[in-house]
Amino acid sequence: MQCHSSEELEGLVEEARQLTVDGHVADYIPALAHANQDKLSVALYYPDGRCYSAGDTEENFTLQSISKVLTLALALMDRGEEYVFDHVGQEPTGDPFNSIAKLETNKPSKPLNPMINAGALAITHMIIGDTVEDRLERLLNFIRKLSGNPSINYNQIIAQSELKTGHLNRSLCYFMKQHGVIDEPVEDLMDLYTKQCAIEMNCLDLARIGCVLAMDGADPVSGEQIIPRDFARIAKTFMVTCGMYNASGEFAIKVGIPAKSGVAGGIMGSLPRTCGIGICGPSLDDKGNSIAGIRLLEMMSKKYSLSMF
Ligand code: DON
Repeated sequence: MQCHSSEELEGLVEEARQLTVDGHVADYIPALAHANQDKLSVALYYPDGRCYSAGDTEENFTLQSISKVLTLALALMDRGEEYVFDHVGQEPTGDPFNSIAKLETNKPSKPLNPMINAGALAITHMIIGDTVEDRLERLLNFIRKLSGNPSINYNQIIAQSELKTGHLNRSLCYFMKQHGVIDEPVEDLMDLYTKQCAIEMNCLDLARIGCVLAMDGADPVSGEQIIPRDFARIAKTFMVTCGMYNASGEFAIKVGIPAKSGVAGGIMGSLPRTCGIGICGPSLDDKGNSIAGIRLLEMMSKKYSLSMF
């Protein structure tokens, strides 16, 4: 059964919203601590252009780790599959997203996958362009195209806040530089990565991006192949195996939708050949995923039989 109205979603949002009191907004990036804990929004975008939404849909949020799926797609387009996976692995990890542990124990040193911070930094390093500004502009234009929203940009305050405080990510970069995974100045990579993570949008933009991935990389309106089919498939597969960090297994069982979360509370869902989903709820559970967002997806999956398994 498909969703037929925004009113239907409104009821689910209000029920899931009750969970927001049990979580916490992220504060390790100081500027994220100002987020409103009780906000929750959802949008569902179908390939025929229908879009239903509910909750605080006008709220903008930063992509944070959701951006990792999009940089992966761009890096694959820039460098090809062989190059990308020569430098970054394809295996899930049971570790937290910012863990440095496996970088040291893995020989040769190579981040386990593109969804943990180390792997994402190595992927951002691959984006082609002469300067950080050129590379950021290429990424922004790519995301503007995917979302169909030409005004998408990044939030300077949140990017600055992470650049100032992201010393764990810096240390991942230095470790990888020592081991030849990256070879650019660490501050340049940090600059680009923090701006990438601070790219801002609302849940409707995010649902449309999810829909492009769901449609194997093709724009649902124009039909243009924005991402080659194979690369959209790779991106969705990583969403299943590593998209919700060390909660990916449980999420696959309970929800069954390829999804990627971020610490600002966003979740992008991409159900193959069916629809894209955009959610934002800044209150997070102990693994860093939107606590009400996950509950909402569980309810939607059940009600609309969305699990792909
Ligand atoms: O690198 C970081 O720590 C953040 N910019 C992104 C982390 C993130 O979203 C992980 N999410 N669950």
